Amino acid sequence: MGSLYLWLKYVHIVAGFTFLMAHGVSVFVAFQLKKEKDITRMQSLMDVSAAAWPTMMLSLLALLVGGIITGFMGGWWSSIWIWVSLVLLIGLTGWMFGVGQGAYHPLRRMLGMEWMIQGKPQPVEKARPMAEIEAHLAKTNPRILLIVGLGGFFFILWLMIFKPF
Ligand code: HEM
Repeated sequence: MGSLYLWLKYVHIVAGFTFLMAHGVSVFVAFQLKKEKDITRMQSLMDVSAAAWPTMMLSLLALLVGGIITGFMGGWWSSIWIWVSLVLLIGLTGWMFGVGQGAYHPLRRMLGMEWMIQGKPQPVEKARPMAEIEAHLAKTNPRILLIVGLGGFFFILWLMIFKPF
């Protein structure tokens, strides 16, 4: 394989690492939120998660685009593993946007923070009473996100390395 191919593969793998580094912030935030009782601390947690968002999204884009280009250069698009990987990554991303929309954007709204619906900024509202915020947080399930999200990521990695079909 030529050296351009190896460089692209290198960039693709680096993007995987920077994605995990950046998104690890939201992962631990999701667990920590359930333990907090103080609104200012919850707001700070959501701020660090938002701070990690651009790096996480850029890495995800680089991971995806790098993988697609590397797939063409390596002539891998006739293999099933790369299609399964692509569908899984897009599926996980779509599911995560749903989680954001259903759980964490509404949480920002309840905390009296800036929040969005489908990327559109919404007016900031007065913070909701703590009992309501805790009831909302009780419905979130970071463990499921971890099992499906990280499990899916590791399964994709397995497909990349073992290329079983
Ligand atoms: C391959 C695996 C994963 C992908 C591709 C992925 C992708 C994404 C994307 C694109 C967003 C932004 C959604 C939005 O802005 O509405 C997001 C948000 C989020 N993800 Fe993931 N994710 C993955 C794994 C995980 C895991 C394992 C957790 C574990 C708890 C997790 C927790 C969260 C949380 C809490 C948010 C909301 C963050 C916020 O609003 O500040 N994700 N994810």
